[in-house]
Amino acid sequence: MSKQRVLTGITTSGAPHLGNYVGAIRPAVEASLSGEFDSFFFLADYHALIKCQDPDIVHQSTLEIAAAWLALGLDPTTVTFYRQSDIPEIPELTWLLTCMTAKGLVNRAHAYKSAVQSNEENGDDSDLGINMGLFSYPILMAADILMFNAHKIPVGRDQIQHIEMARDIAQRFNHHYGEHFVLPVAQVDKEMAILQGLDGRKMSKSYGNTIPLFSSEKKLKKHINKIKTNLLEPGEPKNADDSAVFQIWQAFATAEQTAEMRDAFGNGIAWGEAKKQLFELVNKQLEEPREKYMDLIANPGEVEAILRQGATKARLHSTELMMSLRQAVGLRRLG
Ligand code: TRP
Repeated sequence: MSKQRVLTGITTSGAPHLGNYVGAIRPAVEASLSGEFDSFFFLADYHALIKCQDPDIVHQSTLEIAAAWLALGLDPTTVTFYRQSDIPEIPELTWLLTCMTAKGLVNRAHAYKSAVQSNEENGDDSDLGINMGLFSYPILMAADILMFNAHKIPVGRDQIQHIEMARDIAQRFNHHYGEHFVLPVAQVDKEMAILQGLDGRKMSKSYGNTIPLFSSEKKLKKHINKIKTNLLEPGEPKNADDSAVFQIWQAFATAEQTAEMRDAFGNGIAWGEAKKQLFELVNKQLEEPREKYMDLIANPGEVEAILRQGATKARLHSTELMMSLRQAVGLRRLG
C-alpha cells in the first residue's frame, strides 16, 4: 500500500515566526523524517496576495519561509517542497471547485464572517475592505489539498473549518463527476495547536504580535522581553496556565523542564528571570539553524533551484490529475 500523504502550507506574507515553527514546520519536518508519510510542503504565495499587496514583502517572505523550512531540517529530496504559484494547475482547479461550491458554504467561513462582523460593528458597509480573495480563500485552500489527494493536513485549530470545507467541496465534486478526490482530515496537535503571541492572542502575522524565528540574538531577547505579563512581583506565585511565557516555554522544553518551570511559577519566579531562561532555551535550539538560514538568505539562487525542482516533482501529479479532471467536467478536445 502506498504511504499516506501529508500536506501543509505557510502563507508568505511576512517573516517566519515561532508560531510557524511550533505549529507547522517542526511537526511537519519530524513527520517527514520518520519516513512514514509521503509529504507535500509548500509556500502559499497565492494566499499571501489576499492580505498582502506589497510585492516586496511577498517576495522577501517567500525566500524567508523557504529558507526557514530548509534550515530547520526539511530534506527536499525526500519530500515534495514547492511554491504554490509554480503550479498553474492550482488556480485552474480552484475554478473547477468554485463552480462546485455552494456560496452558502463559503458565507460561513470564519475569516470572512469576522471581517463582515467587524465592519457592521463599526457601522460601515458590510463589504468594506473585503476582496473576493478573502471570500474565496477556502476554495483556493481546498485546491491546494485536493490537487495532491492529501489525507492528513497538519494545521492549527483555526484552520480546521477550512479542511472541513475542502472535504465538503471534494464530496460534492465526487458525487457529481465521479470519485476523483480523497477526503482530507485535519490533524491538530491538541497540546500545542496555537502558540500565543506577544499580546496573548494567537501568534499571527495578522495581529502583528509575532516573535521572528531567525532575527539576531539581540532581537530575539528583545522580543521575548516584550511578551505581555501581569504585575505580580518576584516571590508572588504565578499561574503558569494563563501565561504566554510558560506556554512558549512548554513548546520548546522537555517534559521535565516544563515540570520544573511550572514549579518555578508556583514559587514566584520573577518575570525577568523566566524570560531570561526562555530566551536561553529558545536561542540554543535556534542557534544552529539560524546560521544555515542566514546562509540561504544570502544565496537566493540556491533556494530558487530547490523550489524549481520541487515544482517539477509536484507537477508530475498536478498535470496528470488536471488532465483527468478536465475530461471529467467536459473540457475535452473536439473530434
Ligand atoms: N491557510 C493556511 C494558514 O493560513 C495556509 C494554507 C494555505 C494551507 N493552503 C493550505 C495549510 C493547505 C494547509 C493546507 O495557515
